[in-house]
Order: sequence, then C-alpha cells, then structure tokens
Amino acid sequence: MNRRIGSALAVAVGIGAVTAAGSGWADEFTKQDQERWEKEYQTVVAKGRELWTSPKLGTNNVACAQCHPNAANTHPETYPKFQKQIGKVITLAEMINWCLRNPLQGKPLALDDPKMIAIEAYVAEERRGVALAPGKH
Ligand code: HEC
Repeated sequence: MNRRIGSALAVAVGIGAVTAAGSGWADEFTKQDQERWEKEYQTVVAKGRELWTSPKLGTNNVACAQCHPNAANTHPETYPKFQKQIGKVITLAEMINWCLRNPLQGKPLALDDPKMIAIEAYVAEERRGVALAPGKH
C-alpha cells in the first residue's frame, strides 16, 4: 500500500475508534471521583507552597517567596508569552526554571518533574479566578 494512503487510513480508523468510544467519554465521574481529584490537587498545591517557601530548592538559601510572596508578580495567566530574559515565547515552566537557575542558583527542573508540576499548581492556585491573558505584559 502507498504509505500516504496507509497513514490516512490509519488516521481514519483512529477517528472511527474515538467516535465509537465517544459515548463513554462524556463527563462520567462520581462525586467520590471529584472529591479524590480535588484532594490530590490540593496535596500537589500544598507541596508547591512548601517548595515555594523553601530555602532548599536552590543552592543559595534563597526562596521563591522572598521576591514573590504568595506568588506575587508571577502572572501565570499571561503565559505563553515573550520573555526578554530568554528572547522568545516561553511557557510558565520555562520562566520558573529561569528564576530557579538565576536568583536561586539551582538546577532547572524537567518539565514533568513532580516538583515543577507542584510549583505550577501552587502559582496557578494563587491566581485562581484571574482571566487568562496569554501574551500580555
Ligand atoms: C531575587 C528575587 C527573585 C527570586 C528569589 C525569584 N524571582 Fe522570579 N522573578 C524575579 C524577577 C526580577 C523577575 C522578572 C520580572 C519580569 O521580567 O517579568 C521574575 C519573574 C518571575 C516569573 C514571571 C513573572 C511574569 O510576570 O511573567 C515567574 C513565574 C517567577 N519569577 C517564578 C519564580 C520562581 C518559581 C522562583 C523560585 C524558584 C522565583 N521566581 C524566585 C525575581 C525573583
């Protein structure tokens, strides 16, 4: 089979499978599920708050909270945006790593590191309710 037709067919079959499974996708969760998810989320936020206020995250005993108490001036709702320190459009995680490397003289975290996810969750939670404004300065 021609490769292009082969992959188009694979995509079509994939879409078919998704559509067939679609009925099982719609918002099926219980109150217990929701409570468990909320609890797990709040646990991660609490871990993020701990990291935020910890002088051990970097190498120079400086904590994120010293310059950003309660995540002040972090503006997660404006990402992705152009950040002049890096010279391109970046995500919040990349900006977190910039501060981790510079003011905290630490090692950058992998984007899927549980610590990175916790810090992102904490920062976002502190800004709950603020309208998204990607790209804004
Ligand atoms: C010594 C002070 C200092 C410390 C400590 C510090 N930051 Fe920052 N942070 C800054 C400065 C300065 C900026 C740049 C402001 C800008 O360009 O918008 C900034 C910007 C940011 C931004 C982007 C803000 C925006 O408006 O886009 C984030 C997110 C951020 N810091 C997270 C962190 C995290 C996470 C830590 C701890 C790992 C941390 N900061 C520690 C000074 C600090």
